[in-house]
Amino acid sequence: MKKLIFTIFGSTGDLTSRKLLPALSKLYKDNKIPKETKIICLGRKDLNTKSYLTYMNDESSAPLDLKTLEQIVEYHKIQITDKNDYNELKKIISKETDNQTKQLYYLAIGPELFFDVAQNINHSGLIEKANENQLIIFEKPFGHDLKSAKKINQMLWEFFDEKQIYRIDHYLGKEMIQNIMMVRFANRIFEEVWYNRTIKNVKIIVKETDGIFNRGGYYDQSGALKDMVQSHLIQMLSMVSMEVPLSYHSEDVKNEKVKAIENVSFDSNSFIFGQYEGYLNEDKVNKDSKTETFVFIKAFVNTPRFKGVPFYLMTGKKLDQKESVIIVEFEETSEQRKWNLPLSTNKLYIKIAPDDGVGLKFNSKVPGLTGDVQEVELEYCAACNAVGNLSEAYEKLLLEATESHKTLFTRWDEIELSWKLIEHIKEKQTDPIIYNDYKALQVLIKEKMDVKMP
Ligand code: BG6
Repeated sequence: MKKLIFTIFGSTGDLTSRKLLPALSKLYKDNKIPKETKIICLGRKDLNTKSYLTYMNDESSAPLDLKTLEQIVEYHKIQITDKNDYNELKKIISKETDNQTKQLYYLAIGPELFFDVAQNINHSGLIEKANENQLIIFEKPFGHDLKSAKKINQMLWEFFDEKQIYRIDHYLGKEMIQNIMMVRFANRIFEEVWYNRTIKNVKIIVKETDGIFNRGGYYDQSGALKDMVQSHLIQMLSMVSMEVPLSYHSEDVKNEKVKAIENVSFDSNSFIFGQYEGYLNEDKVNKDSKTETFVFIKAFVNTPRFKGVPFYLMTGKKLDQKESVIIVEFEETSEQRKWNLPLSTNKLYIKIAPDDGVGLKFNSKVPGLTGDVQEVELEYCAACNAVGNLSEAYEKLLLEATESHKTLFTRWDEIELSWKLIEHIKEKQTDPIIYNDYKALQVLIKEKMDVKMP
């Protein structure tokens, strides 16, 4: 790729200032994307490039790298629903492109605008169906239920080839999520024991301390199930539980992930829903809302490899700490019982945030004259071993898209199956309990589900 044109629709929003511009300026500065890169930012606001960057810098929680962005960004005012404006846009982009140019179109807009924008992009000839140098990228919400997700997808297929569609789940760009496959398949000691005869349970946990900020309008319609479980948690579950893919290539990996999701089931009474105290006072939240800000799910993956192993999925806002982690707990040995040793189990921690790394808990003799056994931990810190800082998820994902690598993006059938699971859970959803303390939730989970969540 000699040249890159990266066009952002909805470029005055929060996603662009917090994630896209920082990632793109970093990639450019580190020479990961071509010297000849142009970022075309589109929005309704009456701004020029200079005032746009100042505006975005003021909006951003961390200062933007303006020096770098000034070299590559160009702002244009456009009504994205007006097809006439696309002719102008086509002229601007055509001036910059030849057949070696990679063109990425990022939809940082609400799904209600997808149809108009996709149609305009297609009709104006900005993206020609099946031209693999022209890609479209967007992210959740992929609809608000199975039906609407299908509709969006059908529409996208009308205008673009699946090969041109990049659906972002930003969790797949996280260092340690990418590492799940390496830990599983590049280590004899883990690959050999990745079965129900040795694994006791798997916990997939995403705890947050923040509330919903000013996202009440979206969040109250969505809740933790659709906001987090449908995407990030089901993706993690599929990567932990899938069979060995034929290769590391995108389609092989996705085929196995899909089979894992297809095999997920729940017992009745396997769910706990919560809502944080004070949620009803948040802006744009219904005063009698029953939307869950916390969810706990006990699921099973009914494959020969994992039959009978509970997968505990838990996510919530306003909890005790910000932490994303996968904990694989192994069975005790028969000797631990026979010899009356402490029954602490081996646990593998895939630590996604805040510290990226891997931990392994195992039993070891207490040093010295005693014969007692204690639980000890081996730790690997990915950030400590990285050259420079660990890259942010968006940096990785945008770079992968510029190189047309699709492994870290979701395929339609993964999304479709995830929505089916969510609809299934929704049928069984009960009113949330109100919480203001994570400890109380831990106690409840222990009582109802007989599992201790960290
Ligand atoms: C987003 C959700 O997809 O993920 C947010 O919409 C959530 O509600 C966020 O806060 C969590 O992501 P991270 O990377 O901070 O764990």
